[in-house]
Amino acid sequence: MPIALAILAAGHGSRMHSDLPKVLHRIGHAPLLSHAIGSGLALDPARIVVVAGHGAEAVEAELAASHPEAQTVRQEPQLGTAHAVAQAGPPLADFDGDVIVLYGDTPFVSAETLEAMLAARASGADIVMLGFEAANPGRYGRLITQGDQLERIVEAKDATPEELAVRLCNSGVVCAPRTLLFDLVAAVGNDNAAGEYYLTDIVGLATKRGLTARVVTCDEAETLGVNTRADLAAAEATFQTAARTQALNEGAMLTAPETVFFAHDTYIGRDVVIEPNVVFGPGVTVETGAHIRAFSHLEGCHVSGGCVVGPYARLRPGAELDRGVKIGNFVEIKEASIGTGAKVNHLSYVGDATVGPEANIGAGTVTCNYDGVNKHRTEIGARSFIGTNTALVAPVSVGIEAMTAAGSVVTNDVPDGALAVARAKQETKPGLARKLHDLALRLKAKGTN
Ligand code: UD1
Ligand code: CA
Repeated sequence: MPIALAILAAGHGSRMHSDLPKVLHRIGHAPLLSHAIGSGLALDPARIVVVAGHGAEAVEAELAASHPEAQTVRQEPQLGTAHAVAQAGPPLADFDGDVIVLYGDTPFVSAETLEAMLAARASGADIVMLGFEAANPGRYGRLITQGDQLERIVEAKDATPEELAVRLCNSGVVCAPRTLLFDLVAAVGNDNAAGEYYLTDIVGLATKRGLTARVVTCDEAETLGVNTRADLAAAEATFQTAARTQALNEGAMLTAPETVFFAHDTYIGRDVVIEPNVVFGPGVTVETGAHIRAFSHLEGCHVSGGCVVGPYARLRPGAELDRGVKIGNFVEIKEASIGTGAKVNHLSYVGDATVGPEANIGAGTVTCNYDGVNKHRTEIGARSFIGTNTALVAPVSVGIEAMTAAGSVVTNDVPDGALAVARAKQETKPGLARKLHDLALRLKAKGTN
């Protein structure tokens, strides 16, 4: 049965106190909306429709960049969850299959849970709702069951005291055939405490029509919705805990997992060691057997097997490390590929550069890549040796097996095998240091008399 996702993302999110639409706030560097879509992607949906409203332009721009396969529709004004779902009707008019409704602010629904809902549909339920036993049911809608049948859902605002005592709550996730879902949604009225069109009313309507509605349950943690900044921080913590567990389960070693921070797309291979206080921004892959030492920050980069990075290293977007590269303390690499076995061990900036295999970049080397307007490239050849405190003024190249003398400011290309010395010549004055010292002592003695 083909699946379509309808993702509700039109709500205001006023409790975030933010100019950014709620669903674009990020956890693990990806918007809440992407996490919600990601849950549904496990089902290989044929169609994705996102219902946008508040901040629709920003939501549409984000989707165009990160999920171009998703369609968007606008819900204006926002008259409730059933009204939101109804907006997805026209774009799905030609779709023949089941629709799963997800909320854009609910990032953790698992693939297994959605699959259990599809299984319930396959075993004969017309509508399947996702419920959970709430520790504190509060404002959630309550699921009112009769045997196996989910009879209706009552919103907390409209519930009697007996209904409020029910702990089985509505997550909001629904699965139903496309035609039935939109039929029922069209029949929903707004005669309730909020004056809204409640999606939850489709269950009572289905029961009245003699249809089968069932509940599939999941852990409350999966249905955690983000409404406030505190919720967002809690969701980030949940995401990080899961990412750490996953890295450990897949064979990485984190010596202090609670101090390592991942992004949604971080890839860590087997036998990678990650020391304490390491932060991964988006777009990082670390291959089998690499070692990331303490207090390093990586973003948009690729670390091959056998590399050692840090402590205190910063790999910025476009850093590409071949096998066995060593990047040491207080080194920053940006938009640069570092060849197999090359070393950049101390206090260096290598940006917009290519470093050949087995090259040795001395302490304090800086690629001067920016002239205030344009960026320029530096090419450093295989097995070359860049002396301590070399400034490489780009565009410039240093050839294969070439050398630069310590303290050089290199402005011209250095051919293969050549040594470039680009610094003032040393002059040595015998005995002058002692003379100057004695003079200073005499002056001081005079001054204090
Ligand atoms: C809803 C459910 C409630 C459930 C709870 C779970 C209804 C009537 N109630 O309540 O049973 O326990 O979720 O969190 O469905 N949205 C729109 N357009 C609208 C209104 C909402 O797109 O006009 C979106 C929101 O952006 C949000 C989602 O729908 O992503 C849920 O809306 P919200 O107002 O938070 O519903 P609740 O009152 O929490
Ligand atoms: Ca809500």
